[in-house]
Amino acid sequence: MLPFLKVEQVNKSFARGAATTEVLRNINLTISRGEYVSIIGHSGCGKSTLLNLIAGLAKITTGGIILDNREVNEPGPDRAVVFQNHSLLPWLTTYQNVKLAVDKVFSQSKSRSERHTWTMHNLELVQMVHAKDKLPAEISGGMKQRVGIARALAMEPKVLLLDEPFGALDALTRAHLQDSVMQIHARLGNTVIMITHDVDEAVLLSDRIVMMTNGPSATIGEVLDVPLPRPRKRLELSSDPTYLRSREAVMRFLYERHRAPSLQAA
Ligand SMILES: Nc1ncnc2c1ncn2[C@@H]1O[C@H](COP(=O)(O)OP(=O)(O)OP(=O)(O)O)[C@@H](O)[C@H]1O
Ligand SMILES: [Mg+2]
Repeated sequence: MLPFLKVEQVNKSFARGAATTEVLRNINLTISRGEYVSIIGHSGCGKSTLLNLIAGLAKITTGGIILDNREVNEPGPDRAVVFQNHSLLPWLTTYQNVKLAVDKVFSQSKSRSERHTWTMHNLELVQMVHAKDKLPAEISGGMKQRVGIARALAMEPKVLLLDEPFGALDALTRAHLQDSVMQIHARLGNTVIMITHDVDEAVLLSDRIVMMTNGPSATIGEVLDVPLPRPRKRLELSSDPTYLRSREAVMRFLYERHRAPSLQAA
């Protein structure tokens, strides 16, 4: 497949006064259209920094990122981000939060009634139509994440960037939302980059898992292919040899070869 997103020789340093810290070194990654790629690595290694560079929310120090033949150097609606903690506007209802993004992106290309229909369609995708008139404070954490995902999907981004989207949720809600995201990915064929700390989540959802070494100067240590056919069913996978092998490869990387810095002296 042709490369859709290309991260080429990217370095990122943060300067503070006279001191600079190199957070990412020599990051190279090519992603095809429709791929689901996870990024996993110990806390502080630079996963969010990498996602922010792709989102255009932080400036690349050296190197370049190309999305669909265009260089990325600022934020844009072609890259929608969902953060660990929802970032909904508290004074707007569920519907209004999604509609705001729809109005912004499609003000020229869709009529008023089309924008309404599109907003409802995206709320349907995440099964949140029933709570469309509720404020964020009136719905659960899992529901808020659903609305955040609907808002991101509604922008029809070229890439969906998820920074630990299920991190703050309890295990059952998390499983439910993972299933929803898998169904949406199967239906729409989005290109997704997801940061996670959860090995099972990474294997269940991804086509490839990018494993990062520890910082400072973190880089991509290994990339694992997850050749499991789709649709994937979590219960059936728990004894699948390919699933178990993939899981073990990630565990070995994280807990043998690149242990958390705080554990290395132990
Ligand atoms: N704006 C900034 N200025 C200076 N240093 C920063 C900035 N943002 C991040 N860093 C540093 O870059 C490193 C990587 O941070 P980052 O948030 O990307 O890690 P992460 O892998 O997402 O961690 P976690 O898993 O805990 O979310 C950290 O050492 C952090 O202190
Ligand atoms: Mg992070």
